Amino acid sequence: MTKQQAVLSSETNARFRAAVQRLSGIILPDSKVAMVEQRLRRRVLDTGQKDMEAYLQALMAGRLGAAEMEMAIDLITTNTTSFFRENAHFDYLRDILLPQMVTGHNGSAPRLKLWSAACSEGAEAFTLAMVMAQAQRSGLRFDWAVLGTDISRSMVEKARAAIYAADQVSALNTDLLTRYIMAAVNPAEKEQVRIVPELRQKVRFRQMNLMDPSYPIDRDIDVIFLRNVLIYFNAEDRAHVVRRLQSHLRPGGYLFVGHSEGMSVKADGMERIRPTIFRKM
Ligand SMILES: C[S@@+](CC[C@H](N)C(=O)[O-])C[C@H]1O[C@@H](n2cnc3c(N)ncnc32)[C@H](O)[C@@H]1O
Repeated sequence: MTKQQAVLSSETNARFRAAVQRLSGIILPDSKVAMVEQRLRRRVLDTGQKDMEAYLQALMAGRLGAAEMEMAIDLITTNTTSFFRENAHFDYLRDILLPQMVTGHNGSAPRLKLWSAACSEGAEAFTLAMVMAQAQRSGLRFDWAVLGTDISRSMVEKARAAIYAADQVSALNTDLLTRYIMAAVNPAEKEQVRIVPELRQKVRFRQMNLMDPSYPIDRDIDVIFLRNVLIYFNAEDRAHVVRRLQSHLRPGGYLFVGHSEGMSVKADGMERIRPTIFRKM
């Protein structure tokens, strides 16, 4: 066994997991520790530490700087996502909520604000954008903007680039593919596609940690998607995050959580209108 593969002392292991939870909310189960060590191995080399134990100790003592801590958190996050993931949410938004949200307003076209609050590489935010653009095409009168945020800087950069592997969009129907997906311009990147400028102009991304005590975000958001991130948090952090997000919804605004997360959300001041959809009262 090389030094780098040496098992962490149980004290460093526990302190590292506590630091990850404090900084990101993410609870690392025992089963994930080996995977995390493997992902961080490159950082041990790049920062010139003699082994994982030394790296983690230096990291937690702050000797490697805040940027290194951010990079470590970035490496341990799970970023699995896809376009139209948990599609029933987008159907509900398009067929039930949007028509309600755009009626009234004394004949003027409302401007809807949507937020993908743990957006990973942006597929969820761009799915929302496609749903909005298609609803406008169907004749609904409204304007819209989508914000995507994530703790992972590298994911936010990827989302901003809006470039995806061709097979990530292969399940989109022909209409969506034709309207919103561009073929790669560079022939060397023919396995890649890009979201069209028409959508990119209306979707913004920024790095943001849901564990921060306050969020630099508008307080009149119409729809927040907070999906497949609460599962990594404990009950207390889940409740804090939901409460903070709730304070950024306008009254009557909606919060969507992932299909496996609905039962873990308890939110005073929110009405559960579907198992995973809440309306701010
Ligand atoms: C599994 S992905 C879910 C992506 C998307 N919402 C979906 O359902 O497809 C979880 C995302 O949550 C992000 N995340 C984890 N902890 C976070 C935190 N404290 N603040 C913001 N984002 C966080 C991760 O970086 C990751 O991109």
